[in-house]
Amino acid sequence: SANQMWGGRFSAGPDAIMQAINASIGFDQRLYAQDIAGSRAHAAMLAAQGIISSKDADAIGEGLLAILSEIEAGKFPFTPELEDIHLNIEARLTERIGEAGKRLHTGRSRNDQVAVDFRLWTRDQCDQAIAGLTGLMRAFLAQAEAGADWVMPGFTHLQTAQPVTWGHHMLAYVEMLARDRSRFEDARRRMNECPLGAAALAGTSFPIDRHATAKALGFDRPTANSLDSVSDRDFALEFLAAASICAMHLSRFAEELVIWSSAQFRFVRLSDKWTTGSSIMPQKKNPDAAELLRAKLGRILGATVALFTVMKGLALTYSKDMQEDKEQVFDAADSLILGLAAMTGMVSDMTANREVLAAAAASGFSTATDLADWLVRALGLPFREAHHVTGTLVAMAEKQGCDLPDLTLPQMQSVHPGVTDEVFGVLGVENSVRSRISYGGTAPDQVRAQVARWKAALG
Ligand code: ARG
Repeated sequence: SANQMWGGRFSAGPDAIMQAINASIGFDQRLYAQDIAGSRAHAAMLAAQGIISSKDADAIGEGLLAILSEIEAGKFPFTPELEDIHLNIEARLTERIGEAGKRLHTGRSRNDQVAVDFRLWTRDQCDQAIAGLTGLMRAFLAQAEAGADWVMPGFTHLQTAQPVTWGHHMLAYVEMLARDRSRFEDARRRMNECPLGAAALAGTSFPIDRHATAKALGFDRPTANSLDSVSDRDFALEFLAAASICAMHLSRFAEELVIWSSAQFRFVRLSDKWTTGSSIMPQKKNPDAAELLRAKLGRILGATVALFTVMKGLALTYSKDMQEDKEQVFDAADSLILGLAAMTGMVSDMTANREVLAAAAASGFSTATDLADWLVRALGLPFREAHHVTGTLVAMAEKQGCDLPDLTLPQMQSVHPGVTDEVFGVLGVENSVRSRISYGGTAPDQVRAQVARWKAALG
């Protein structure tokens, strides 16, 4: 039989396969709360503008609330014949309240309806991402505060570079996450305009009040162009782009955790809560949560690429292609929010192995740069020459199987006669990190100042 929503023009219903490819109710039922909020705001505005009676608007408002409870109780009869969440709810409303339900769609289209629902949903996800990021920043900050002066090796190329402090390394992530947070804040601010009332694409001849519905739904203002309103999915792309960058940051720390928790590094101990055992190897404690977090960017970036590809080259305005937007964003948002919570737990519960970190910091000739700098400062050598002298000393130590501070003064003087025993003062890792006092450097005092700044900022 022909469709109950647009049966007027049709004499036959869709093929079963058409219904299968066309229906979105399987996934867009996630938008039910937003759809009901949008419809309630729309109905109230229609009554305020004298477009429908207050009696009808009240019946609609109450009917929609009853449907909300029905859905939340798992008692709503979702049906693919009614394609999507919008038609399912509207048909159910008419079933429940009769004629008044048929007036709800006055001055509106599913095109602006889905646009407003999806924006509301994505805006909420921005808020959740912002809250999740704030929690994770606090977890890194607590680690930074505890270990402002714990020394560890800093790496480039994953090769020992220079000693740094644990607090400094933790604060590096606070900086990244703060930028991630501001990306979600920016995206939220830009998406916070209400497309409701753009109708199908051209606006409507009914005397609607778009400022009122925008305000009722917590938007800053209505969108200014009806064609753009029903075509735009940049808000979702911005969310996905911000989520991708954030997931990339999570993935980098996840990789560090995988490396650091290995028996070869032993920089950190992960809590039992975030690890798993092996069914065969009794000694195992695998960093599964970290590994999954390392992988999550795969799906989040995949969703981003998928939605770009859906939107590319679509002529204005709405095309059904755009129904393919939602699953990508749903999946990416779920992955991100869960990932932020898991990372927050792992960071809060991990324990730095201070002795191992300190020993690792002192190995690998990590203070070679300090030695070269000393040759410049104390002996007036040009840096390039100091670099060469130090390189020669490193090669000498390596050949003897010892570290730089283990070389004797005569050995050092054999490479450069000006070296005095003052040099040993700069070869220790504690001295090394304490000397890095430039703004943003790794010195414990710098780290403490940054911790204080972040604590004030995060409240
Ligand atoms: N289910 C549709 C979507 O997700 C809603 C909008 C449908 N509009 C239309 N003209 N067919 O995009």
